[in-house]
Amino acid sequence: MRLLVTGGAGFIGANFVHQTLREHPEHEVTVLDALTYAGNEASLAPVRDRIGFVHGSVSDADLVDRLVAGADAVVHFAAESHNDNSLADPRPFLDTNVIGTFTLLEAVRRHGVRLHHISTDEVYGDLELDDPGRFTPETPYNPSSPYSSTKASSDLLVRAWVRSFGVHATISNCSNNYGPYQHVEKFIPRQITNVLTGRRPKLYGAGANVRDWIHVEDHNAAVHLILEKGRAGETYLIGADGEVNNRDVLAAVLELLGQPADAYDHVTDRAGHDLRYAIDAGKLREELGWEPLYTDFRDGLAATVAWYRENEQWWRPLKDQVEAAYSARGQ
Ligand code: NAD
Ligand code: DAU
Repeated sequence: MRLLVTGGAGFIGANFVHQTLREHPEHEVTVLDALTYAGNEASLAPVRDRIGFVHGSVSDADLVDRLVAGADAVVHFAAESHNDNSLADPRPFLDTNVIGTFTLLEAVRRHGVRLHHISTDEVYGDLELDDPGRFTPETPYNPSSPYSSTKASSDLLVRAWVRSFGVHATISNCSNNYGPYQHVEKFIPRQITNVLTGRRPKLYGAGANVRDWIHVEDHNAAVHLILEKGRAGETYLIGADGEVNNRDVLAAVLELLGQPADAYDHVTDRAGHDLRYAIDAGKLREELGWEPLYTDFRDGLAATVAWYRENEQWWRPLKDQVEAAYSARGQ
């Protein structure tokens, strides 16, 4: 298949490109990426001579039309992805997440091309800590932040284009990813690189918030299965039973880096901070036979810490600017 991968220079997209070339060499890959602050060509450097790369936006209708016409399937990762940024400046989230997805939908409709839309569990809002339930494909949408509301909007556009125009699309909603090539603005890489640059890690509020962590390789393996065997028009939830609260994640990071357990600061909490996410991935497991490989969060975290230790040249140029922006917001 000729795959058009949008956002392939970002965290999950770059890992997807690496996994595709390693495990599915039958596919031809073209990346479309705007190289925003979150996109990094260096993440694709090891495979650069084996892929096509187009620098441009998913909101550029002419460019998208040309690229979609030459593809068999589109895997749509491109997005503004960080909740804190969406609170500071929501506009780019509408432009890329909503208009960008609309632009792709119109192109796949015109050319009869398959689309897989990558989305998030945040579209469902949050759960109480003691709620025995988890998110399922039937959970009503209830997003909290500008980021998650634009992702919810993009999902609804995809569903409408499936129903009204018969577009061949699938959607996946995944929980929090971790692993190599994640931008240092995000929780886990921020804390690892804070320690590695002599800064103290920063915990929002009391740190009781729970995220359902999944290794990026497991997320992308699920995306490949959906591409191969997913039913048109269906939504699949991706999660690996990885619920951990932020305090415990930070304690594990500190321990892996040989730091005292109290060597961190509590900082201003995120506005509207979602309390807990939890995914029931039963449909993905039962219908498509998906199983995660990273079942021990601590092992996956140790490998991630090792990656950031060994790849300082990848993250070092980004670090000071990210921390300056956080500290201006009291975080
Ligand atoms: P990221 O911010 O690391 O990467 C986003 C990529 O999209 C960057 O390379 C950026 O340059 C590119 N991009 C941004 N605007 C663009 C535009 N207008 N046109 C083309 N490219 C553009 O994000 P990520 O964490 O890799 O997330 C990828 C996708 O997965 C997003 O859709 C996100 O909503 C979804 N998701 C992320 C997680 C997670 O934990 N990170 C979990 C579930 C779903
Ligand atoms: O659930 C999937 C979502 O996971 C994706 O859709 C998003 O794109 C992705 O960014 C992520 O969203 P979160 O907001 O959960 O991730 P973040 O890494 O920003 O924060 C994780 C948790 O850690 C959250 O409860 C906020 C907290 N946090 C974050 C930072 C950056 C801190 O306590 N300190 C920090 O410095």
